[in-house]
Order: sequence, then C-alpha cells, then structure tokens
Amino acid sequence: MSAPVLPLNSRGKLASSLPAEQLAEIKELFDFRRVGYSLDAPFYTDPTIFNIDMQAIFGQHWIFAGSIAELPEPGDYITVDYGPYSLIVLRNDDGGVNVLHNVCRHRGARVLTEPAGSTGNLVCGYHSWTYSPEGNLIHASAPGETKFDKGCFGLKRAHSRVVAGLIFVCIANEPPADFDETAKIFEPYLAPHDLSKTKIAYQQNIVEEGNWKLVMENNRECYHCDGHPELACSLFPTWGLTEGLIPAHLEEVWDRNKQAQSSLEERCRRYGLPYEVVEELDTRVAGIRISRESLDGEGESFSPDGRRLSKKLLGDLRDFRLGRCSMHLQPNSWFHFQGDHVITFAVFPVNEHQTLVRTTWLVADDAEEGVDYDLEKLTYTWKQTNLQDKAFVELCQTGAGSPAYEPGPYMKSEYQVEAFINWYVQRVQEHLA
Ligand code: FES
Ligand SMILES: [Fe+2]
Repeated sequence: MSAPVLPLNSRGKLASSLPAEQLAEIKELFDFRRVGYSLDAPFYTDPTIFNIDMQAIFGQHWIFAGSIAELPEPGDYITVDYGPYSLIVLRNDDGGVNVLHNVCRHRGARVLTEPAGSTGNLVCGYHSWTYSPEGNLIHASAPGETKFDKGCFGLKRAHSRVVAGLIFVCIANEPPADFDETAKIFEPYLAPHDLSKTKIAYQQNIVEEGNWKLVMENNRECYHCDGHPELACSLFPTWGLTEGLIPAHLEEVWDRNKQAQSSLEERCRRYGLPYEVVEELDTRVAGIRISRESLDGEGESFSPDGRRLSKKLLGDLRDFRLGRCSMHLQPNSWFHFQGDHVITFAVFPVNEHQTLVRTTWLVADDAEEGVDYDLEKLTYTWKQTNLQDKAFVELCQTGAGSPAYEPGPYMKSEYQVEAFINWYVQRVQEHLA
C-alpha cells in the first residue's frame, strides 16, 4: 500500500452540492433504470451525470493506468488524465510506483505536461516549485517574506498497486478493499507472461466521440463482430453464444471452436496455466471477467492465420499455442495476453461525449523490430478493430443525442453488457445513497 493519501478537499463534493431537486431527479433515473435495456439518453449526454461518474466511479475505484513496461527505470513516469483529474504515475527507486496529483500546490499549474518521460525531482514550469519523486515540496524559489510550512504543501498522493505488472491507481481516501480478492483471481493467469520483461512495441491513443460507458459496452459483446473482418480471422465468431444460441450458419465454427478450446485446455493443464472462466462482472466491487480462450487457425496470436506475430516467447511460457488470456476489469480496461505479445486497453473519459482509448502492444524486451516482429503486422488486427469500434461507439453516441432515442433491449449474447451496466448503476446508487 502506498503512503497515506491526502484528502481531496475542494472537488468531489458535487453530488451533495447539487440542488436537492436535481439530485432527486438523477437518483430517479438510476432507480428506474429498466433492467435488460440500454440506458436512458442522459447517461450518455448529460454533463452532470458525467461529473457523478467521475466522482462515484473514477473517483472511488481502482483504475488501470498502464503497465510496468511503460516505466522501465526509476524516474520514468507517465501522466494519466481522465475527467477533471491528472495524475503522475512515477517509478520509484524501490521498483514501486508513486502516484501524485499533477496539480502544483502553489497556484495549481500542471507540474508535468508531457504524456511520458523521465525525471529526477519534479519542477513546476510556472514558478519552479520543486517536489521530490515522493511529492514532498523541497524547494520554493524566492519565497520572499512569505513564511509557510513546506511540509504542508506536497503534491497530493493517491494509492497505487502493481499486480502482475499492471499498474492500478485509486484517488479515493479509502480504496475498495475487494481489489485484493480480484488481484488474487487474475495474478496467476497473467504472471507467467511476465510484463516486467516486456517493452512497448507500439502505443495508440484514439479519442472516440462517445461516452465512456458506450466504449465499455461495445467491448462487452461480439454481437457486432461481423463488423470486424480482420479480428474474425482469429476470434471465433461464436463468442458470447452458448449451445442453444448457435445459428445454423455458425455450427461448423462452433465445432471447430470447441475442439480448439479442448486442446488449448489440455496444453494449459500440462503447463499448469489456469484457463477457467471467472466471471464476476457485477457480483463484486472490483468487477472482473477472465479466461483463456482459443484462437482460430494456428491458435497462437491475432494474425490472419493464427500464427505468432513475434518470435520471442514471453516470460516463463514454453509454448506459443496458448490462445488469448483475456481479462475485462471494471471500470476502464481490458487485455489480451498471448504467448508472443500482450495488448492492454485503457479507457480514460475526457467529458460526457469523448473518451480516450489507449492501446499498448507489448513484446518480449529482447524482441527486435524487423527481426523478431514486423510492427505493421503485429498491430494490424487491433488497429483495424479499434477504428471499427470507434465508429460503432460514435453511431450510438449520435443516436443518444436524438429526441427519438429510447432504451432498447439487450440480446442474450449481450449479457455482459447488462452486467457492466448493472455494476455501474449499483456503484453509483451506493455512492448517492
Ligand atoms: S503554480 Fe507551480 S510554482 Fe507556481
Ligand atoms: Fe468490436
């Protein structure tokens, strides 16, 4: 656990400062949410609900910020912005991570303005107040006659956790305790891929013109996967379906999938790798779904023929044919861990109608571009898929803005979307109670 967190004292009180009538209206929207249906339009379009999301979800929960591969050396940092927040995530000398609010304690300037870099002490660009990597104010230049206790003006800290090389941050005073349980679930699946021995092959930032919940909803179903021809080469188009739901034209694929899955499971048993589906999307505060699933073709990676996209195996793995270990973590991330590379996806809300989606491709740290992997080929499937998903999300955002929009029913194969929305509604209701 990181050092004590200084309470946020000026923001984060929005729900209680809303006029009683408006708060009652908003509570009603949550209370009368129709189960099994998409949300009412204001959930996707209303700035007040966005502010509540920032408080109740992004202000309270563990957020995926990035992986340890993004901060390989002490002093390396990334800045992570979502909603009104900007955080500095900095690798410290002990190999751990410090998380600091990127808000100068003098007059509030952003202290670090680059998305990533390396630094010793942190120097604010406005009047050069200087902070240690732990956030302590160590120098205020020419303070003149003003006397103040530097000890009271350190950068505000937030909580951090690194699990299996994934970095999580939480800005709440009291982070949700059940993250420990969630971490115990996913660590054994991910640890063998050893993210501490990976490097970034490529990182992509896309701003989607859509509310963050639409981005997450879109990722929780494959009902739309006909719109992903590149992904369809490796992902069986029966994802989310069960025995009774298979249409005639997919029966052959279903059989191929079943066979591939059982030989994948046999390999996992041989290597002692967990593969079972754990699905607790709306039955715990730190909601999770994780499993290891087969890929089509050779079953090694997200390529047109299913073959490996990088020649170097990750971590302790002994076989490329390990399909994809896929994890979805509420509220803002999903991941695919293959034998040859890992893809992390982080969702950072900008405002009620814009969301940054950050995709990072990681390969073994000794893999050489052009020798062990071809960057275009490595990133092709998910670059295409991301663009297609962006378009789908944007279609829905446009629709939510129309007076003709009303919530529609989720299909059976969209049960994980319902679980995500159910989780979201529960969390906000708890916060507003
Ligand atoms: S605002 Fe940072 S030093 Fe003045
Ligand atoms: Fe998609």
